[in-house]
Amino acid sequence: MVTGANGSGKSSLYRTLRLLADFSRNGAIAALAREGGVASTLWAGQGGLGDTTAIGVRVGFAGEDFGYAAELGLPVPDSQSKFNLDPVIKAEAVWAGPVLRPATLLAERGGPVVRLRADDGGWAMVPHTLQPFDSMLSELADPQSAPDLLVLRERIRSWRFYDHLRTDADAPARSPQIGTRTTVLGHDGADLAAALQTIREIGDAQILAEAVDRAFPGSRVEIISRDGRFELALFQRGLSRPLGGAELSDGTLRYLLLVAALLSPRPPALLVLNEPETSLHPELLAPLAELIATVSETTQVVVVTHAEPLVAALAASAAQPHTVELVKANGATTIAGQGMLDQPPWYWPKR
Ligand SMILES: Nc1ncnc2c1ncn2[C@@H]1O[C@H](COP(=O)(O)OP(=O)(O)OP(=O)(O)O)[C@@H](O)[C@H]1O
Ligand SMILES: [Mg+2]
Repeated sequence: MVTGANGSGKSSLYRTLRLLADFSRNGAIAALAREGGVASTLWAGQGGLGDTTAIGVRVGFAGEDFGYAAELGLPVPDSQSKFNLDPVIKAEAVWAGPVLRPATLLAERGGPVVRLRADDGGWAMVPHTLQPFDSMLSELADPQSAPDLLVLRERIRSWRFYDHLRTDADAPARSPQIGTRTTVLGHDGADLAAALQTIREIGDAQILAEAVDRAFPGSRVEIISRDGRFELALFQRGLSRPLGGAELSDGTLRYLLLVAALLSPRPPALLVLNEPETSLHPELLAPLAELIATVSETTQVVVVTHAEPLVAALAASAAQPHTVELVKANGATTIAGQGMLDQPPWYWPKR
């Protein structure tokens, strides 16, 4: 659970995680460019920039069995190219276990050159060079020559991010859509009815029913199929007919979208929700926290939120979340209460 006041850097952290995941799809350069490029990502605080060729944006993560880090920077200017503001990958590293050390390195990239750990513990140079905009995760992951990279790439590719699922009047989730088996809710939520029906057929129908009943006592969701188009129907106590997608309140629709995202029958290694509380009635936060707790038994869930009731509900739930509070100190995002000695061990790959 990541909390913090407005402007403390929660959404920046969310976007950083998403950028990290983009390396596995070779989309990090384009993603960084969309966010405003290297220049906008550099800290605007005190310190001065100095040598611009040494400028870099570094991202990385570590898990129990693998870690990955990458550094993006600006290219050496080339008068023949119009892409001199396009970020390039300066360095990448993959290691075994939680900490990067010379002995745990499995793959290492410096500029265009990559070396891979061989079976005998020595190093094997990759015979061809990489383009500055290609990640070694996407280019070299191979079951024979680099099985660790492949495992790691597939794991990162499974990471899922949901940010402000649309619930406005024109939200695609409100209109009937072609129904096809949907194990992962799309980002715009258009396939909500199909995703819910898929959970009912091959996922955890029981938990789905409970999540709906806890939020809207006495209610249940049915999916109506007309000529292959699926439509949502919410049967509620006291109403003579079910409400369709177009009639649901923003909060009700958002809750159902979050339920569909969380109960995916194909759970990811990491699920990140950015400010899921938006437009949710406070009464829905406790059922949402309970559902997150259930899902977090099998999936690592990161919830980025500044809703005090959601923070309280999650803290009181069976999830027992690890809580990180972000604070701004002199314009920089830091973690509240974290001193030098509390920082997890972390080393960046060499450029
Ligand atoms: N390059 C930069 N250098 C320094 N500060 C920056 C830079 N870019 C953005 N910021 C600041 O960092 C903060 C991060 O905002 P962010 O959107 O992550 O906050 P948040 O915690 O999600 O806030 P909210 O609760 O309002 O959504 C903003 O105050 C923004 O002005
Ligand atoms: Mg934010």
